[in-house]
Amino acid sequence: MTALRAILHDWDESDLDLIHRELARSYWSEGIPRATVARAMRGSLNFLLREDGALVGYARVVSDRATFAYLCDVFVLEARRGRGLGDWLVAQVLAHPELQGLRRFSLVTRDAHALYARHGFAPLAAPARGMEIVRPGLYLSENKD
Ligand SMILES: CC(C)(COP(=O)(O)OP(=O)(O)OC[C@H]1O[C@@H](n2cnc3c(N)ncnc32)[C@H](O)[C@@H]1OP(=O)(O)O)[C@@H](O)C(=O)NCCC(=O)NCCS
Repeated sequence: MTALRAILHDWDESDLDLIHRELARSYWSEGIPRATVARAMRGSLNFLLREDGALVGYARVVSDRATFAYLCDVFVLEARRGRGLGDWLVAQVLAHPELQGLRRFSLVTRDAHALYARHGFAPLAAPARGMEIVRPGLYLSENKD
């Protein structure tokens, strides 16, 4: 029987538990505090991917909902990977009515370029124009004491 897939934007404490658990062990936000994840979610457009009601994947978008958006914190639970869920999740993000007609949609990835390329994302056309303040390992150093 085919599992029923849905995207929901609302979330509760048990969703936060799972999302925090996954993000705290991800390569990009290792050790992130639960309260920081909650604050980030409150300021984002959240995409909770459910299969038969159970949370199995997540992504969030930071955006002015007019000109710019940043896609981040994308994951599918390990046991559910390789079945097209990540692909479907990215498609749902890009189809969201408040994320249409943007001048720029950004993301950063270590190794999932192929996934995003299928949805129109391309390497930076002019990397020399981009600048950033980046603090890798921030949460690990904060959690030391
Ligand atoms: C990336 C991720 C969300 C993909 O979810 P998924 O449900 O397994 O993805 P799909 O089954 O829809 O795969 C779609 C395509 O994405 C590509 N892909 C998926 N994960 C990839 C990875 N880690 N590296 C490179 N390509 C990847 C594959 O090319 C796949 O194409 P195929 O079907 O021809 O093999 C999932 O692997 C994940 O949660 N990884 C850990 C967290 C992470 O790295 N998130 C991305 C941060 S930018």
